[in-house]
Amino acid sequence: MTQDELKQKVALAALHYIKDVAIVGVGTGSTVRHFIDYMADLKGQIEGAVSSSEATTAHLKKVGIPVLDLNAVGTLDVYIDGADEVTPHKHMVKGGGGALTREKIIGAASKQFICIVDETKCIDVLGAFPLPIEVIPMARSYVAREMVKLGGQPVWRENFITDNHNVILDVHNLDILDPIKLEQIINNITGVVSNGLFAMRPADVVLIGKGTEVITR
Ligand code: A5P
Repeated sequence: MTQDELKQKVALAALHYIKDVAIVGVGTGSTVRHFIDYMADLKGQIEGAVSSSEATTAHLKKVGIPVLDLNAVGTLDVYIDGADEVTPHKHMVKGGGGALTREKIIGAASKQFICIVDETKCIDVLGAFPLPIEVIPMARSYVAREMVKLGGQPVWRENFITDNHNVILDVHNLDILDPIKLEQIINNITGVVSNGLFAMRPADVVLIGKGTEVITR
């Protein structure tokens, strides 16, 4: 199976988790795009979705699913999203698509976080994928210097502005042995909006597309 076929398969399996759910939190990325396409078939049963990015909002609207404001909805039962890396502890690196801040907000506001990935995303130690950090534009160089002190090599994602009008630093070469601690340390750097470590609030369930199967972790 191709990687995209695995993404499709795992996206389909995630429908099980929204069976009796009126309002669904929806992440961002190519795996989630497949999930939204499948969600469209359940349109009648779904009241709406809370979206984690402008790209997801556009896709939800295109398939006819109403997009709701998180402030009006309150706590969500389920959030479905992909990841760039995920460990057996269900810690993740996210933000390859630059939507990490809104993704983290919806994850925090949801009772269940369902992570949907193909098998290439499963690793034991986070950090092979460069860690995205959303930064207030004027703090870009300062935060980059702080990340160098932490042993990383930050690269400014040029020609990219987040939905919140900020910039992204992709930090290479971090050996992330204690993701919870590093997530807190990076959060404490002035100018950081959020970082792509999802460890303080990990996934609750990870669905992995592997060969012809979907594995539930
Ligand atoms: C978006 O900002 C990311 O957090 C995505 O969840 C992540 O990049 C996974 O994307 P794919 O489903 O496209 O691999």
